[in-house]
Amino acid sequence: MSEPKPEGLGLDRAERNWMLVGLVVLLLFAGAVAIGALGTGFELPGMQMRVDPRTVASEGEFANPGLREIAPGVYEAYLVSRQFAFEPREISVPMGSTVTFYVTSVDVQHGLKIQDTNVNLQVVPGYVSTLTATFDEPGVYPFICSEFCGLGHAGMFGQVLVEGPG
Ligand code: CUA
Repeated sequence: MSEPKPEGLGLDRAERNWMLVGLVVLLLFAGAVAIGALGTGFELPGMQMRVDPRTVASEGEFANPGLREIAPGVYEAYLVSRQFAFEPREISVPMGSTVTFYVTSVDVQHGLKIQDTNVNLQVVPGYVSTLTATFDEPGVYPFICSEFCGLGHAGMFGQVLVEGPG
């Protein structure tokens, strides 16, 4: 008596079924990645502007770092990082504001990570790093330097104050 001949690709039925399970799981994972990347407001940091780190803090927007309101509820925040502080250390905006951060360094590589937001930037001398965040909940959003930049690294922090209505 001979074995029944497999059909199709010559696969056993159980083998084919388990391959289908594997394929479905892969598609589910790919879907989860796509939703996570495109559907939840994540944004890749941009690093398109080149600047001269020796002069960036003395001319242009970074000579006067801080917050600019460019439309109602829409802000730009210019931050200068240097060993070992951000300038300014604190910005405050009303609840619901959208803030585009422009961050540069005048010395070594720093980082900017703002708690409870999508902002987590590498700050590289010679470049301006940008990312936009919307602050829908009032409160204090601490930020830190997230790249080791020297002995004072742990003291390099600040905060975004988001004021509630009234
Ligand atoms: Cu700046 Cu760590």
